[in-house]
Amino acid sequence: QTIFRGRHFINLEDFTREEVDTMLEVSFDLKKKFAMGIPTNYLPNQSMFLMFFEQSTRTRNSMEAGFAQLGGHAGFLDSSSMQIAHGESAKDTAIILSRFGHAIACRYCNWGYGNKYLNEMAKWSHKPIMNLQCDLYHPFQALADLMTMKEKLGDLKRVKVAIIWAYAESHKKPISVPVSQLLAFPRYGMDIWLAHPKGWELPDWVIEQAKENAATYGGTVTVTNDEAAAYEGAQIVIPKNWGNWVNDQTGVAASGAVSVVDDKLIAQKSWKCTEAKMETADKNVMYMHALPADRNNEVEDSVIDGPHSIVYDEAENRLHTAKAVMTLLMGGR
Ligand code: CP
Repeated sequence: QTIFRGRHFINLEDFTREEVDTMLEVSFDLKKKFAMGIPTNYLPNQSMFLMFFEQSTRTRNSMEAGFAQLGGHAGFLDSSSMQIAHGESAKDTAIILSRFGHAIACRYCNWGYGNKYLNEMAKWSHKPIMNLQCDLYHPFQALADLMTMKEKLGDLKRVKVAIIWAYAESHKKPISVPVSQLLAFPRYGMDIWLAHPKGWELPDWVIEQAKENAATYGGTVTVTNDEAAAYEGAQIVIPKNWGNWVNDQTGVAASGAVSVVDDKLIAQKSWKCTEAKMETADKNVMYMHALPADRNNEVEDSVIDGPHSIVYDEAENRLHTAKAVMTLLMGGR
């Protein structure tokens, strides 16, 4: 099926593997055209709304810049300056904005609310709703990660990927990035190792669905508390959030997913990604991270700035994949 127009983009699982392949093909085409300066004015005179309940660097700007490059105009909406702050419903917000423009994109990561809010908008919106990250899914990130992996490795079958992550449902933090990765990567036949400390389990339904996807596409999903086993021979490692999230250059504490000193996270500091651990991986291992990264507690500078790091290519691909999704959902005939 190649009918994308008008569909919502809340979870990559709502799209078949063939449809995700198409999104990736369009992403590569748009990347090439961007590099060559070839205009991609596919969505002229279209408007969309980017609603944010939380901060963003990559997501907001890949959507804003990307939509301008497609010939449209994206309006940034901070939820705190909308009537949402006075209790206006998702239904009323979605109906009105969808009458004004051609799509609505929203980031709402609040645990227990984000995904429900997006689905409520999707129920009432006349135009596509795009998920810019909720508590459960971050489909744009998973798509950009797939693009980056394909770009670097080509065929992804049986590639060993170590996802080393903390958040558990019980901690009431968004689990969207590892969930979207765990569901998407096995659909490309990869061997996924999810490693985390005891007590930081992702919900059972995520693991079950990931294993079902792996069985369909010939990969595997292994869940372990043994960090060393996950690193061993891995071709890609994706370690994330383990510490107190304060930037020591700016003194700024980021809000959102890890907003304050969190003792439970600090207790896991031994899981920081180090050069010594990377040396146990494949000799050509690639270090990925959705960013922002906590350079104090998550990863050594020598890893994230080192020869195995592909984090900036990964971040760049947020632009090209965002443009592909917008083109497919808002374009066509
Ligand atoms: N990876 C990601 O979603 O980055 P931002 O939070 O900056 O959008």
